[in-house]
Amino acid sequence: MKCNNVIYRHLWLYRVIMRLLYWEPYGKRFRHVCQQLRKTDSFVLELCFADVVVADYCRRHSRAWTGIDQSDAFVAYARRHRFDARQADLLRPDKLPLCDVCIMMGSLYQFRGELEDLFFRIKACSARFILSEPVNNWTCSTGLRRIMAVWLTRTEPYADPFRFTELSLVQTLNAMQHDIGFEYRIVHTARDMVVEIIWLK
Ligand SMILES: C[S@@+](CC[C@H](N)C(=O)[O-])C[C@H]1O[C@@H](n2cnc3c(N)ncnc32)[C@H](O)[C@@H]1O
Repeated sequence: MKCNNVIYRHLWLYRVIMRLLYWEPYGKRFRHVCQQLRKTDSFVLELCFADVVVADYCRRHSRAWTGIDQSDAFVAYARRHRFDARQADLLRPDKLPLCDVCIMMGSLYQFRGELEDLFFRIKACSARFILSEPVNNWTCSTGLRRIMAVWLTRTEPYADPFRFTELSLVQTLNAMQHDIGFEYRIVHTARDMVVEIIWLK
């Protein structure tokens, strides 16, 4: 599947851009998410994974990891490193593989018109969902930095400058939580907000 954004075609370029956008050690935001994994999380599903940092962590801690991404290049890189990476467009209403915990980092903004559907599908496949979403980085600033950040991380079909802020992410979760049936707690807020979502029966 050809990606419209050049940074999703080359992992090295993606890493450079993410380092620039976050301006902090590359592993830091992944650590906040990996810390949320429990001993009982044997099977981890990561949506829109791009890089294999979480996958590596899971391998080192004897957990099974499956990743889904639409980028040819990212899936090929992960497979070359013997990870179970699958190529799929998450905008399609396909069922997701069963897992103990599902992770999505830096990607929710790409599904803003389809959030309820996506959440229902994640609920159907997992016991917990760990979400990490940028709420305070260059995409939230003004001027040239914002234009650059938005342009570099855009994907179809929403090539517009929409990104979450702390407030809009919380409002979005609040608006969906009763219909979909979940509780959530914010476990960390810095450039990204990390949220643990627990599905209710
Ligand atoms: C901004 S990157 C975030 C990557 C990584 N999770 C991180 O936080 O560094 C967005 C990722 O979403 C993937 N993606 C975008 N739209 C997608 C879709 N419709 N289905 C599956 N993956 C998608 C891109 O290929 C890219 O890897």
